[in-house]
Amino acid sequence: MSRQKSKRFAESKQMDHILELGKEDYLSMPGRWHSDFFQNQKPLVLELACGRGEYSYGLGKEFPEKNFVGMDIKGSRIYVGAKAALDDGLPNIGFLRAKIENVRSFFGWQEVSEIWITFPDPRPKDKDEKRRLTFSRFLKLYQHILRPDGILHLKTDNRPLMDYSVESVQAFGGEVICLTYDLYESEWKDEHHGIQTYFEDKFTKKGFKINYMKFRLPLLAEPDGPTPPIYFRGEAVSKTAETEEQH
Ligand SMILES: C[S@@+](CC[C@H](N)C(=O)[O-])C[C@H]1O[C@@H](n2cnc3c(N)ncnc32)[C@H](O)[C@@H]1O
Repeated sequence: MSRQKSKRFAESKQMDHILELGKEDYLSMPGRWHSDFFQNQKPLVLELACGRGEYSYGLGKEFPEKNFVGMDIKGSRIYVGAKAALDDGLPNIGFLRAKIENVRSFFGWQEVSEIWITFPDPRPKDKDEKRRLTFSRFLKLYQHILRPDGILHLKTDNRPLMDYSVESVQAFGGEVICLTYDLYESEWKDEHHGIQTYFEDKFTKKGFKINYMKFRLPLLAEPDGPTPPIYFRGEAVSKTAETEEQH
């Protein structure tokens, strides 16, 4: 492990606004983000595949009346957003280091108001369809944790992933509220408050247009079962195994 990563991991352990394995509460968060983590009732916005957390940080700064949580498996990336939030003294921003497959083990029934999926890995191979963050299995997880009026956003440079996601959402019974294949030439560009992520910047410079979709999922009438255990390679396991894949 590089010296920079070791330093970031060591510092992350001391940051109360990063929830990761080994921290108190990691095993018992569903239903407690408002009362215990943020200690207020502001709406909770979740950024999935947040990387360095540009949206969590950028929107958190712009909207102090909401709480933001960035979720990613890579601790050294999360550190960047967490450090920026700490340096700016922004109490409404937190980070969660965990696999998105386990999102239901961290957020309770209808606990989240809004979800951003920012430049997720496109997973272009057919055999990897199940790993795309807009595959039906993931939509089902989001459906459980989202409030009835919950909104989702997907931003990607990858047109095939956007086309796939539109189909997946519609097949799931969801509603596409807005869709553009060129965000910065569209009427929705201002909704993004000038926030560009690390991957967005990289692909924009290569000439890719930015695709953006806002959507809703059908309402679940009741909770979709109890909080599940953490799964790793298809097996319910202790939290320790999850870290084997962390970088
Ligand atoms: C292409 S990067 C995008 C990062 C950031 N949103 C950006 O735009 O710069 C995809 C991110 O998703 C994270 N990721 C991929 N699959 C994941 C999973 N199953 N659970 C948690 N994080 C995941 C990776 O660690 C990586 O940081």
